[in-house]
Amino acid sequence: MIILGIESSCDDTSAAIIKDCILMSNVIASQRVHEAYGGVVPELASRAHQQNIVPVVSEAIRQAGISKSDIDAIAFTRGPGLPGSLHVGTSFSKGLALALGIPLVDVNHLHGHVLAHFIKEDESTPVPEFPFLCLLISGGNSQIIRVDSPCEMEILGQTIDDAAGEAFDKCAKVMGLPYPGGPIIDRLAQEGDPTRFKFAKPHIEGYNYSFSGLKTSFLYTLRDELKNNPNFIEENKAHLAASLQKTIIDILMDKFGKAIKDTGIKTVAIGGGVSANSGVRAAVQQYCDRRGIKAFIPKRSFTTDNAAMIAVAGYFKFSNGETCDITAPPFARVVI
Ligand code: KG4
Repeated sequence: MIILGIESSCDDTSAAIIKDCILMSNVIASQRVHEAYGGVVPELASRAHQQNIVPVVSEAIRQAGISKSDIDAIAFTRGPGLPGSLHVGTSFSKGLALALGIPLVDVNHLHGHVLAHFIKEDESTPVPEFPFLCLLISGGNSQIIRVDSPCEMEILGQTIDDAAGEAFDKCAKVMGLPYPGGPIIDRLAQEGDPTRFKFAKPHIEGYNYSFSGLKTSFLYTLRDELKNNPNFIEENKAHLAASLQKTIIDILMDKFGKAIKDTGIKTVAIGGGVSANSGVRAAVQQYCDRRGIKAFIPKRSFTTDNAAMIAVAGYFKFSNGETCDITAPPFARVVI
């Protein structure tokens, strides 16, 4: 079965072809236009998707070495995401499905991140066994998800305010670093002392996360220190990055570890843009190695938004007999 996946939920336009979960192509056009604004500008994102979508889909089909008539179904990201961005991928997918006379499958972007672990480079790629627990950490979400099958997932906990990626990006912005700050903090942290500064950690019940207190505590530390030393940030960049990253990892692992212990599940995975963070990857691997738990850490190219994961999630839904109607609108927030 050959599936074309289309992703346009935020600022990456992507198209991918898979054949029974085996990756044939995965083309991503990232939008540099937002760098000048310190964050994604929704109107500019949807315009860039309009410009990119036709060449990106054509290139994915060309790289896969197939023709349009070989495609069995189109899987597209229906939400959550930016409405203007989602509209471009949704409308394009509908038009192409109508023209080719093939079914459409709507995919929840977050399910895509979880199921990225089923993208196979070849038949020997290992995949997680069910049930597994997934720590989904991105610019817009921080969730602990119990995955019982490709189409059965339960959110055990999630952020009650900011996402982990926002904590990285907003603290980086306060330090005067460009957007997105997460990868820059990761790089700077390699050179710094993670114990140099202490920032606030939340005390909330259950498996939920909160990152807004950390953000405020980071901001206040900088404000107070800058009063005494105007060069404080420049002189302590690496230590600030390392201490911030350590605090975020401690917060993430505290709840993820609790969920692993309480459920007794022996397979875990991580996903989403923040799962590219070298400290997060090492912490999860180390936690699991010490307890005989199998950890699935995605390739960095599958951590950020990509259509391969949408195609795989669509493959599972389509195999389960689930398709969607041509009138299906995109959803900015509602989870499908
Ligand atoms: O999943 P994703 O590509 O999309 C959205 O949720 O929009 O995640 C983007 C987030 C950004 O906040 C970015 O700073 C963060 O992932 N990120 C990282 C790293 N690479 C990307 N955060 C920390 N360390 C990284 N290496």
